[in-house]
Amino acid sequence: MKKISMLINAADRISHINPEIYGHFSEHLGRCIYNGIYVGENSAIPNTDGIRNDVIEAFRNIKLPVLRWPGGCFADEYHWKDGIGEKSQRKKILNTNWGGVTEDNSFGTHEFFRLCELVGCEPYLAGNLGSGTIEELSDWVEYVTLEGGSPMSELRKKNGREKPWKLKYMGIGNENWGCGGSMRPEYYADEYRRYQSFCKNFSGNELFKIACGPNSDDYNWTEVIMKNLNKYHTKGISLHYYTVPTGDWSHKGSALEFDSDLYYSTISKTLYMDSLIKRHTDIMDRYDPDNDIGLIVDEWGCWYDVEKGTNPGFLYQQNTMRDAIVAACNLNIFNRHSKRVIMANLAQVVNVLQALILTEGEKMIKTPTYHVFDLFKEHQNGEAVYCFSTNESAGGEVKIPLLSSSASVKDGVMTITLANCSLEDGAEISCDIRNFECSEASARILTGEVHTCNDFDAPDRLTIAEHNVKLENGVLTAELPPCSVVSVTVK
Ligand code: AHR
Repeated sequence: MKKISMLINAADRISHINPEIYGHFSEHLGRCIYNGIYVGENSAIPNTDGIRNDVIEAFRNIKLPVLRWPGGCFADEYHWKDGIGEKSQRKKILNTNWGGVTEDNSFGTHEFFRLCELVGCEPYLAGNLGSGTIEELSDWVEYVTLEGGSPMSELRKKNGREKPWKLKYMGIGNENWGCGGSMRPEYYADEYRRYQSFCKNFSGNELFKIACGPNSDDYNWTEVIMKNLNKYHTKGISLHYYTVPTGDWSHKGSALEFDSDLYYSTISKTLYMDSLIKRHTDIMDRYDPDNDIGLIVDEWGCWYDVEKGTNPGFLYQQNTMRDAIVAACNLNIFNRHSKRVIMANLAQVVNVLQALILTEGEKMIKTPTYHVFDLFKEHQNGEAVYCFSTNESAGGEVKIPLLSSSASVKDGVMTITLANCSLEDGAEISCDIRNFECSEASARILTGEVHTCNDFDAPDRLTIAEHNVKLENGVLTAELPPCSVVSVTVK
């Protein structure tokens, strides 16, 4: 058992934790939308307007705050007018990015906004700057947000939606350094400036425009973008970084079969997120010392080789306790950087990459990653506070810090989230809580052997359980088994 001392000072507030840090990403990719979230109105699977009820319920339970759609690379080829109007008349296209399958456009703008209404989350549209026109993007904003009096608002009404929707988050392009047009940052910055000019604020709606930011450690991209855009036109820039266990995109490693060396290298590659955020933040600080532009980690998560026997273009993978540790480490990092990081979206929400939920016909399971979002949900809208730990190291050839942690305070309640990343050692935490009136503590835990997953035969093999902790004279003591994620509530 490794002994670790912690100190949390509630008087030392770092920054507000935007709920959107706990956001998600949905793409027309594999079975994320079709046969995942959306089964159609005529399905025997219980649904509301074609959207699975069990999925809606699961999203609501974790207070899912924001959902990005329709991609990803899919967004770079998406023409939104294909997805409105009478369904039988909608254009059928090929999804050239993901598996070459037919996309019948039965899930489009109206269906997406209905999903967000049912879940109670903010919609985040990823606009097509890569292959779409300015007119098309400008029409989309008009269609969605303008009350009346224009061809687009009248078309929306004709399609059954009288009132405009509220739309805050508008992405002006996706991965324009890659699948979104292979652009140089200088060229993209100019394109961004043009496209965003025609995305207007209508009928009291105010857009929060998000520019395409860097791919992982492309610091030059951030530098050029920050130099060429300004806070009057841009509220956020996005960062995409995936955890690839081997670091080799052609052999990323399996979701289920891995040894402890690969486990530690997965966690080490995940913790790299911290340096990435620090270095991009340093650049942003130089151009934006007032912190007006947020960093949005709008694609993150583990990316493994696809599960054997599944369509390689569908990016379907299982999810184990390793993914739970990855999620906990990332979310603790985001909390700690919440001054600059104002949104983060896990890729992806259902049936793709590090999914929250997997479905098979009428069956649905919650992955270990889902349970981590459940454990962390009380951080949303909290104030991140100073949280220090002495720590220990874990691992073999690749060494990582054993403990990942963060803390926040909201309405007189403190939430502390901890992950013991070691596969071998338990940890005994002794945490001195300063400047915070408290008399009771309770905790919930997710733990299991690192390869454990939920599957359709055993959907609740891994679930959250109550966990014993002690609070005496402002000192919290807790034992964390190896490979565990714990959320402590102190009040
Ligand atoms: O999440 C899968 C893909 O990864 C997205 O479509 C793209 O934006 C990224 O490269």
